[in-house]
Amino acid sequence: MFEEYPKEIMSKDGTPILIRPLVKEDEQALTAFFSRIPEEERWFLRDNIADPDIMREWIGNLDFTRVLPLVAVKEDDNTIIANVRLHRRPSECLSHIAHLRIVVDPAFRNQRIGSWMLLDTVRLAMTMGIEKLVAEFVAGVEEAAVHAARKLDFYEEAVLKDYVKDRRGGYRDLIIMVKNIHREWSDF
Ligand SMILES: CC(C)(COP(=O)(O)OP(=O)(O)OC[C@H]1O[C@@H](n2cnc3c(N)ncnc32)[C@H](O)[C@@H]1OP(=O)(O)O)[C@@H](O)C(=O)NCCC(=O)NCCS
Repeated sequence: MFEEYPKEIMSKDGTPILIRPLVKEDEQALTAFFSRIPEEERWFLRDNIADPDIMREWIGNLDFTRVLPLVAVKEDDNTIIANVRLHRRPSECLSHIAHLRIVVDPAFRNQRIGSWMLLDTVRLAMTMGIEKLVAEFVAGVEEAAVHAARKLDFYEEAVLKDYVKDRRGGYRDLIIMVKNIHREWSDF
């Protein structure tokens, strides 16, 4: 499944970047990456992997059948600048679904890295036999992600009104977007 990795891409400004699966040796670099995500965004992360203890446990027990993590690293110094994860449930009835989470280092946004990572994730999902990708976005906070997802044919499936609490105790809608995975690229 990972024969094509590491895969070289180029950011808009010409920085050479590699996309590859996460490995155990990335623990420190991944912790450093999450520490660069601003506090107001970390608040909305679904899992608290900004916590070094939780990160250690998670990375020590990597199980690609449950969570498939890809990272984008700067080719020159191996700094992690983006992370995307595909989460799957073990139950048979949900094994055709994967939930997608993506974060790009703020210093490297608007460089097409998020779009490359999403595209690669869709390709991997195709090879894994996943039929539906689901992504959840907090309204008014994750607009860039909604925009990038729409471009890749995710559509809005549902909105859970006042579902998420922000740091000030205010409620925000949760937008659930879905992408049906086709069997071949020509179906796009
Ligand atoms: C969403 C995110 C991953 C996008 O990564 P990125 O590398 O900056 O994205 P790209 O450069 O590939 O841009 C993707 C598209 O979004 C657009 N975009 C970027 N920032 C935007 C913003 N603030 N509002 C609207 N659109 C925006 C870009 O213009 C681009 O569209 P285009 O191709 O039509 O120009 C990144 O902004 C991020 O990590 N956000 C915080 C975490 C998050 O919201 N995660 C989603 C929860 S799963």
